[in-house]
Amino acid sequence: KIFPVILAGGSGSRLWPLSRQLNPKQFLPLADVNLSMLQATVQRMSGLETALPTLICNEQHRFLAAEQMRLLGMEQAKILLEPVGRNTAPAIAVAALQACENEDPVLLVLAADHLIQDVEAFQASIQAALPLAEAGKLVTFGIVPSHPETGYGYIERGSKVGDGGFAVSRFVEKPNLATAQDYLATGSYYWNSGMFMFRASRYLEELQQFRPDILAACRKALAGGTQDLHFTRVDAAAFTECPEDSIDYAVMEKTEDAVMVPLDAGWSDIGSWSALWDVSEKDEQGNVFKGDVLDQRSRNTYVHADNRLVATVGVEDLVIVETKDAVLVAHKDHVQDVKKIVEQLKSGA
Ligand code: GDD
Ligand code: MG
Repeated sequence: KIFPVILAGGSGSRLWPLSRQLNPKQFLPLADVNLSMLQATVQRMSGLETALPTLICNEQHRFLAAEQMRLLGMEQAKILLEPVGRNTAPAIAVAALQACENEDPVLLVLAADHLIQDVEAFQASIQAALPLAEAGKLVTFGIVPSHPETGYGYIERGSKVGDGGFAVSRFVEKPNLATAQDYLATGSYYWNSGMFMFRASRYLEELQQFRPDILAACRKALAGGTQDLHFTRVDAAAFTECPEDSIDYAVMEKTEDAVMVPLDAGWSDIGSWSALWDVSEKDEQGNVFKGDVLDQRSRNTYVHADNRLVATVGVEDLVIVETKDAVLVAHKDHVQDVKKIVEQLKSGA
């Protein structure tokens, strides 16, 4: 049985003002009217032979997470709570340590904020990855890249491994633009989707080798943790002391045992407003209007109106998001910087 681990601890600050500290994007129905990104992530596995998923998220979102799982009939799902985010390497380590207590399951590590259009193709890639993970490989799912995105990891495809896998000749997390362009031109690089499959013990062994400090801190944090219903709270002091790093830098760039399984399933990381515009259904002028919107002659514009009527006239390439207490107006080419507004807000500037 596959043991799903869902990473739901991100802040989603580039999707402000809809995504808020107390209600970040993975808990919002951004790409779907009925299901949050997290719930869609869980639903997408239905039909696969899996254990109940384990969620790992920030403590302040425990009731949101529990309620959303309950609505899917999964109130028994375990929820691991972090007092602070230490990025994905520690989050996965804690989940792996807990999963390893009785057996050594194959973990399927998923991000809670991806959109996948073709569920059948997604599940086929997981089935293809399973025997590789069982055999001790660290599987990542690779996406054929469409542009030189610098926010992703890049995987160079090596020789065939087993049925449907490829050796990872190189894994480079978030290269600069020139490097990303070179990779794209070769035709043998894939994007790292940020989803992984491996035996819990294999991840822990690799972490022991490359980042023993992280593993030691996570062991301590889990050993000192407390159990309260289906919530597991790690020891706050021990976890806060854990160094911060992502699985990509800590393990995937370094391991000799990485294997890539291609994923062609309409995958996207809903990281920013322009990414959401990209995947949304548009009118003939390329506009996406959600809520109460009136328009004259605008083009390629994304408008989200929560409470009030929003009217646009003759604008182009804008993102306009109206909420009860904040309105965002941004140029589509600059939406990556929305997170700087959130930083400004936090620092009180
Ligand atoms: N529990 C927990 N704790 N979850 C976290 C934490 C944390 O401290 N930090 C991030 N996450 C969750 C996020 O909510 C998201 O679901 C997932 O882990 C990935 O984190 P991101 O911060 O979104 O990573 P990224 O987008 O910069 O990069 C990763 O994903 C790319 C594809 O979307 C990398 O794996 C890249 O290589 C990859 O291309
Ligand atoms: Mg991401």
